[in-house]
Amino acid sequence: MAKIHVDMARSLGTVDRKIFGGFVEHLGRCIYGGIYEEGSLLSDEQGFRKDVMAAVRGLQTPVLRWPGGNFVSGYHWTDGIGPVEKRPRQLELAWHSVESNRFGTDEFMEYCRVLGVEPYLCVNMGSGTMDEARAWVEYCNGTGDTYWANLRRQNGHEEPYNVKYWGLGNEMYGDWQIGHLSPEDYVKKAIEFAKVMKWTDPSIQLVGCGQQGWHAWDRVVIEGLAPWIDYYSIHLYTGSANHYSNVFAPALADLAIKSSQALIEAARFTQKIKHPIYIAYDEWNVWYRQHTPESRLEEQYTLSDALAVSVYLNTFIRHSDVVKMANLAQLVNVIAPIFTSPEGLFLQTIYHPLRLYAEQMQEIALDVHVDSEQMALTTEQEQAPWGQHFANLGPFQLLDVTATRDEAGKVLTLAVVNRDSERAHETTIKLAEEATITEFTAYEVNGPEVDSLNSFTEQAVVAAQERVLEAPGSVRTLSYTFPAHSLTVLRLQLA
Ligand code: AHR
Repeated sequence: MAKIHVDMARSLGTVDRKIFGGFVEHLGRCIYGGIYEEGSLLSDEQGFRKDVMAAVRGLQTPVLRWPGGNFVSGYHWTDGIGPVEKRPRQLELAWHSVESNRFGTDEFMEYCRVLGVEPYLCVNMGSGTMDEARAWVEYCNGTGDTYWANLRRQNGHEEPYNVKYWGLGNEMYGDWQIGHLSPEDYVKKAIEFAKVMKWTDPSIQLVGCGQQGWHAWDRVVIEGLAPWIDYYSIHLYTGSANHYSNVFAPALADLAIKSSQALIEAARFTQKIKHPIYIAYDEWNVWYRQHTPESRLEEQYTLSDALAVSVYLNTFIRHSDVVKMANLAQLVNVIAPIFTSPEGLFLQTIYHPLRLYAEQMQEIALDVHVDSEQMALTTEQEQAPWGQHFANLGPFQLLDVTATRDEAGKVLTLAVVNRDSERAHETTIKLAEEATITEFTAYEVNGPEVDSLNSFTEQAVVAAQERVLEAPGSVRTLSYTFPAHSLTVLRLQLA
């Protein structure tokens, strides 16, 4: 019998809703044919796919990162403004495609406005200059009578966009990036970008380009950039066709956060930095099958992947004190929860936990004690993709759990991922204080087996079910059996 103990007073921090953020890159069918398809019967007069917008609304996405990704290191934002027919078609080197620039800054801002989403722009630190970066800040946020602010007005946008979040380049450590740099060179260059961007608009918040927290890159960059940045980014994708390697791999996300946080705190302490530096986990997902430009990175997600995504979300919630933004890579078609064709869309398995968490998680993360069966990776699982990277972090509990409550202490939600592919786990849930449970609802994401997937023809093989259960009365203890390979979000209303 597994045990979950919850103490409503043991707060871990405030859950920042930006952890439910998204990311859209000019890559494959993410923008064109994904969120934007001019002339389609499914699109509105601005070219935004209405069915996609409805699905995005379901995710309650609070912040959207754009335009890349690798794409940004060759992107000149000025190509994407002004009359569409005059915009240049550019050879695009990151994904070996042609960028028509039909969708640019003003279209992205309009998309965010319509959806009520906060924009997060990443600047080009590959082939781009600091002048371009600071001009972009002025174009978006400028209020004076200056060239770039006036150009925005001339393009029909009188009011500034007030873009708060700005990324200082994408994955500048990688040789797959145009203009990649050593950490020392990145620090030098990023400080110059940061200076002119902040001088243009001191209210903006900057995101330094991080790796995974455990590399030499992270030590040098955090130490050098700490005075300038408000967020430090982490990018990490995991995934494996082997179920256990897949669902235990997000343990690496936990390590990445802890490693980055330790470096951040050391830099703040030694340099006497007063402002907080948070983590923006601005690319994450399960991604392991589709890597080539020809495949357009169009993953098809299984139930196992949906459970891995749930463990990622649990990990961010457990680190609520420092993870204040996370951006699932990506939103549509490209390693994404929403999959379109010109005729419609279907929701991938991973859509369901993303929606449930955004809907059900409350403001305060709680420290939960979990005692469930443990499992070490077998040699076969270790040898599967990703297995070798985290085998030494095990053994792993089969139940992965987080809890959140509202400010008033009236709603408690538990997110429980049963990673066991075969067995249900009977569990006792105990609250530390007297509580009267007046309503008790269970939302479950599950499907026939860990390999089950959704498709255009079978849209709901993996789906979320809601069950309102009999409230047990004035109790501190509940019993619940978590089915094999499931995510269960329990919502308890307390009196
Ligand atoms: O999201 C796909 C790619 O993964 C992004 O372009 C890049 O930043 C990362 O390597």
